[in-house]
Amino acid sequence: MSIISKNIDKAVHILSNEDVVAIPTETVYGLAGNIYSDQAIRKIFEVKQRPLFNPLIVHLHSVEQLQGIVSHIPEKAQRLADAFWPGSLTLVLKKNLSIPDVITAGKDTVGVRIPNHPVTLALLKKLPFPLAAPSANPFNRISPTSALHVEGYFKDTIQMVLDGGDCQNGLESTIIGFEDDEPVLYRLGSISVEEIESVIGEIRVKNKEENTPSAPGMLAKHYAPRTKTYLVENVEGFIKEHPNKAIGVLSFTEAFSAANIKYVEILSSSGDLKVAAANLYSSLHKLDHLDLDMIVAQKFPEFGLGNSINDRLDRATK
Ligand code: TXA
Ligand code: MG
Repeated sequence: MSIISKNIDKAVHILSNEDVVAIPTETVYGLAGNIYSDQAIRKIFEVKQRPLFNPLIVHLHSVEQLQGIVSHIPEKAQRLADAFWPGSLTLVLKKNLSIPDVITAGKDTVGVRIPNHPVTLALLKKLPFPLAAPSANPFNRISPTSALHVEGYFKDTIQMVLDGGDCQNGLESTIIGFEDDEPVLYRLGSISVEEIESVIGEIRVKNKEENTPSAPGMLAKHYAPRTKTYLVENVEGFIKEHPNKAIGVLSFTEAFSAANIKYVEILSSSGDLKVAAANLYSSLHKLDHLDLDMIVAQKFPEFGLGNSINDRLDRATK
């Protein structure tokens, strides 16, 4: 029997019994549990096979709820919250002492966001507690952007995926923390650096693990298909160098063709980066299920969401 359901009250029931439910958001599906339930949070880590040093994002339905979660909101954090919530922005702020250590991996900060998805906002409003939710994929695998992706991963280990359709943005939230009240971008995501800077001015970007001890989750290998994946500027050159391989191409706009190309996924034929981002993970999921020798992804233009897409593709090749 399918674990996919649209029944919000059923999700409320399961979550209130300290179990986990996969939930839709506008970025990717999350694997959610009550932040105050040790049992639920441990199950999230267990199901995902995620190391405990990697902290979780707390999901809220309103800014008022933030009071019990964080102890300090820098002025620029407030401006970002006003501009982008509900939406695909996670703020890492000084935590309130009541937040369990297992959520924050023992750090004195907590990641918070108000997701912009009607189903999950309705669910959050029915619950007397916020939800911790990492992306609903096993550790190091491709993030899920549909209920079916989650079911494929977890049908034997969780009771329910709350169905909210395909994720509209398709890339994880942009994560911003504060060091001495100054903003630092820890993870490129659904909201581009340019959009962030239009609200608070120039921001320091520390998106790579090597310079980011403060975001231990930014592991270089992440979002990875099982099929060996390459990120290149020149797809045609790469295709010519591998004549005897069965290759899947992840293309921005072009329909490449050659004898060794078995499949082409075009992310946006009109060249729209937002559309390309929304299609990225579902196209990777599809190519990864075709028994190919290799996937070759075309490097995206280096502005706006192109930078966020390149970041994920780069991690997919590791
Ligand atoms: O779009 C998203 O953010 C999705 C949806 C479900 O909301 N969630 C998500 O969660 O991507 P996850 O766990 O896959 O990625 C969360 C990232 C991790 O890299 C983690 O290290 C970082 O957020 N993070 C969480 N709390 C943090 C903290 N206190 N300090 C630094 N980084 C933190
Ligand atoms: Mg994740």
